[in-house]
Amino acid sequence: MKRMPRPIQAIVHASALTHNLARARAAAPDARIWAVVKADAYGHGIERAFPGLRGADGFALLDLQEARRVRALDWRGPILLLEGTFEPRDLEDCSRLGLWHVVHTAEQVDWLAAHKTQSPHRVFLKMNSGMNRLGFTPAAFRSAWVRLNALPQVSEVSLMTHFSDADDERGISHQMKVFEAATHDLPGERSLSNSAATLRHGLQNDWVRAGILSYGSAPDFPQHDIAHWGLQPAMTLRSQLIATQQLQIGDSVGYGSRYTADRAHRIGIVACGYADGYPRHCGTGTPVLVDGQRTATLGRVSMDMLAVDLSALPQAGVGSEVTLWGCGPGGAVLAIDEVAQAAGTIGYELMCAVAPRVPVVVALDEA
Ligand SMILES: Cc1ncc(COP(=O)(O)O)c(C=O)c1O
Repeated sequence: MKRMPRPIQAIVHASALTHNLARARAAAPDARIWAVVKADAYGHGIERAFPGLRGADGFALLDLQEARRVRALDWRGPILLLEGTFEPRDLEDCSRLGLWHVVHTAEQVDWLAAHKTQSPHRVFLKMNSGMNRLGFTPAAFRSAWVRLNALPQVSEVSLMTHFSDADDERGISHQMKVFEAATHDLPGERSLSNSAATLRHGLQNDWVRAGILSYGSAPDFPQHDIAHWGLQPAMTLRSQLIATQQLQIGDSVGYGSRYTADRAHRIGIVACGYADGYPRHCGTGTPVLVDGQRTATLGRVSMDMLAVDLSALPQAGVGSEVTLWGCGPGGAVLAIDEVAQAAGTIGYELMCAVAPRVPVVVALDEA
């Protein structure tokens, strides 16, 4: 293995990706599954995630660069551009690479109508059913469908929408009603569900878009955690203790002295900071594993280091393994969702933000 510049490393667990995809299949047994690999596979790296996700029915992603990378891995199956084309000439690459693409604006229909191609495209016509981000309004949807359907450049029109609240109390019924009312008599395959709609609502449709669940983060944390959904962390961020300090009562730790000891105890200094992608917003008390034992961070996170409580870990010292999130020694698991919550954010953001300076390895052969 390549020597690490300092003892920090991210590990992508291929077996967890495969396991999590199987959870999506179990939840939507009649659906085909898009593995959503936008944002460089939610920070895992498309090439690194691919071996674990190759059992998917297709790859849904953001742009042509990502699509080229998936084709370069010899993936011959479906690839969907989730936001479609950004300019007319993107259609040439769609033709060349055999990409399916979302159509969400009248401009994208115009570009298709002007596109010269020998191979008609499969498109996913997107409805804005209430999220007000992308898509045709329900009133405009049918005429867009009719127009697309008549284009020689189009081979098949599928129907799509995206939920704003599948992960929380409001749920999906209000958007489902809007979508059903506008599409009930239109033919074509449907792609509606994200992770939360798949797991929480058991929504069945032709093409499920499995994003965050594939990576082992619960879409509706803290209401449910990964154990509840039977998911496994696809990423571990691990480091080591590079120093320890003995605190006396009244001693404080780190920038701004945000933690002050009310008893004498030992702390450890971890080679991980916000320049590695660990959120600075994580305050004292954020869960962390040392030698697979759960403990907590203390004080402010610095650029390259953070401090952890070793009160209950007398055996821990320089070189002890620290799990910032993911899988620790002895089968211990620290869900990325818990760390994200401590930072006031979601697992998505943390996994996407692991810094380029952190070396990443793929664990291919875990049981
Ligand atoms: C259009 C679309 N579909 C599917 C997904 C996947 O969502 P999730 O990661 O919550 O499963 C996303 C992610 O934001 C998306 O934008």
